Amino acid sequence: LLGFGNVNRTLVQLLVDREKELHARGIGWRITGVATRRLGWIADAGGLDLALLRSERGIRADDFPAASSLSTNVREWLQTARADVLFEATSLNVESGQPAVDHIRATLEHGAHAITANKGPIVYAYDELRQLAEQRGKRFLFESTVMDGVPIFSLFQENLPAIHLKGFRGILNSTTNVILAGMEDGLSFDTALKKAQEIGVAETDARHDIDGWDAAVKVAALVIVLMGEKIGLNDVQREGIGKLTGEEVRAARAESTPYKLVCSAQRTETGVVARVAPERLPSGDPLAWVAGSSSIVYFETDIFPGLCITEVNPGLYATAYGMLVDFIRAVGK
Ligand SMILES: NC(=O)c1ccc[n+]([C@@H]2O[C@H](COP(=O)([O-])OP(=O)(O)OC[C@H]3O[C@@H](n4cnc5c(N)ncnc54)[C@H](OP(=O)(O)O)[C@@H]3O)[C@@H](O)[C@H]2O)c1
Repeated sequence: LLGFGNVNRTLVQLLVDREKELHARGIGWRITGVATRRLGWIADAGGLDLALLRSERGIRADDFPAASSLSTNVREWLQTARADVLFEATSLNVESGQPAVDHIRATLEHGAHAITANKGPIVYAYDELRQLAEQRGKRFLFESTVMDGVPIFSLFQENLPAIHLKGFRGILNSTTNVILAGMEDGLSFDTALKKAQEIGVAETDARHDIDGWDAAVKVAALVIVLMGEKIGLNDVQREGIGKLTGEEVRAARAESTPYKLVCSAQRTETGVVARVAPERLPSGDPLAWVAGSSSIVYFETDIFPGLCITEVNPGLYATAYGMLVDFIRAVGK
């Protein structure tokens, strides 16, 4: 486990909870390493104490005295842990995707599957990591990066072969949607943000949500993987919700044309136009009624003119579930 915050801690709970289902698929597991900036590189190929990993108070390096001084970097750590699979859930770095890109590269070179909830590596190194995984006969999977664990990437990759994706529109950032809903209910911006942080959906640095970075990274990830266009983060036009006042948000809702932070991409003759911006939506728009931490994506394809997926009130288990499914995909028989 690289990163041990909301996502990977919930993943541990889910692995325990779904032990029977994993066993039925021939999958056994033990956690042989955990690493964060504060913890350092903790590894024990025999397995770390699960009760400690699941404890409410969180973990400290001195909980694992024998396992915490054996490795000083990711490559040593993977070796000491004898990792077969890495679950990467560190914070998003919008500027470079690092150090997650290096960690995933090291994992594939070590000969383990790499599963991530972190969008950075897709935007900054998708082609390289996909090719490396192929060369090493391992999987690089990232279902939880967009819309938590909802099968978006695998839907296209496994179930919609040879389809042409013309574009999409969606609400893909829960934090801003929770903030806008809170402001509609009369909360201040800061109190509404606090609510998003309490339910664990906000990015480590919430400015990434508010300024539209998280949404822009998701748009870029969908364009890169599903539309096959090599765009960068700066190619996504981006405007956040920071300038909206409570009055504006409540007036828009009262007129049944609520504000939403809309993510979109459209194929054109010369490439793709990708955008994140607050929009007032007419009440007939399916995006208009997606509230709180719920999200939606509406795909336009040449076969299905409109293919819409809505996810209502996901919790952290939804994100952890995406990683669990990737795990089964990578190692299941
Ligand atoms: N929360 C969600 O609902 C959700 C949904 C989908 C995807 N995601 C993605 O999942 C990832 C994790 O989210 P989260 O909510 O679990 O975040 P979080 O609670 O803030 O945890 C982040 C973890 O990453 C560690 N970390 C950060 N930078 C690191 C670095 N350079 N090297 C090693 N460890 C590092 C942090 O520990 P230290 O501070 O000790 O380094 C912490 O353990 C993010 O990329 C996020 O975008 C989250």
